[in-house]
Amino acid sequence: MNDVVLTGDRPTGPLHLGHYFGSLANRVLLQDLHPMYVLIADYQVITDRDLPGEIRRHTTELLLDYLAVGIDPAKATIFQHSAIPELNQLLLPFLSLVSVSELGRNPTVKDEIAHSTQSAVSGLMFTYPVHQAADILFCKGTLVPVGRDQLPHLEVARLVARRFNERYGQVFPLPEAMMGAQPLLKGLDGGKMSKSRGNAIALSATEDETAALIRKARTDAERLITFEEERRPEVANLLTLAGLCLGRAPVELAEEIGDGGAVTLKRVVTEAVNEFLRPIRKRRAELTEGDARRILAEGNERARERAVRTLEEVRVAMGF
Ligand code: TRP
Repeated sequence: MNDVVLTGDRPTGPLHLGHYFGSLANRVLLQDLHPMYVLIADYQVITDRDLPGEIRRHTTELLLDYLAVGIDPAKATIFQHSAIPELNQLLLPFLSLVSVSELGRNPTVKDEIAHSTQSAVSGLMFTYPVHQAADILFCKGTLVPVGRDQLPHLEVARLVARRFNERYGQVFPLPEAMMGAQPLLKGLDGGKMSKSRGNAIALSATEDETAALIRKARTDAERLITFEEERRPEVANLLTLAGLCLGRAPVELAEEIGDGGAVTLKRVVTEAVNEFLRPIRKRRAELTEGDARRILAEGNERARERAVRTLEEVRVAMGF
């Protein structure tokens, strides 16, 4: 079967090493194997906040992050929601395929509502998984590399595709989730890695910023460095991070550091991360904001052509 890959991110802030090892590295490999669409999900930014914020800056930075890590616009189509009216229009027929109670049962939506700081839950919060189905189905995406939290949304996309095909005839393939096998990186404080918690190393961080973040990372008082994920999660996480950057086993690094303590551990991690980020920083420095705008405009044009064709098929199938 000829797979089509679709992935995306909300443009809410810079991508970090967790994103890199969790999904970006995989995309760089996938772009050589399949047609790939990478979505800057700008309309999804306003699901859990009232205003889009610095959306233009975040969009440009996200695009620069993609290019810096090696997503190649000659292979992958990078595009944004707000530039593709035909994708957004798919939301109308798709919403008719899903019941209100099905929307209310989505565990990821429930979780986001529970953690939201908004005074009221908007209609978009309940319906964005259907919009996300349009993200996937507009290009007849079949492979969707995602984290665990996105699995309920993938079920919505499958439901929408299945019901559309049942009611109106075969149009959409059923998309499949693709889960990474990478170890989960935690933040430098041992919590969930997240830009807003200040515990993440952004791909765009400078060498000095990187060193400062790692210097502040939580460790423990034991001098002998060992890789024990249960008993010493913070030390293990730092070893995992260095291991990923160096392509080496964390246990081996621990043995080399031995009784060098947290100071040596942090030096090893800092060097590993900075060495790893060097080519990414270099590529980023070579790109201008003008390059980013042009590349996004080209991607938007390609994605839009695809969306126009799918919407036309949908209209014909439905008899409009
Ligand atoms: N919801 C995803 C996130 O928060 C972003 C996203 C939007 C997405 N549309 C998508 C992911 C389609 C995969 C497929 O990270």
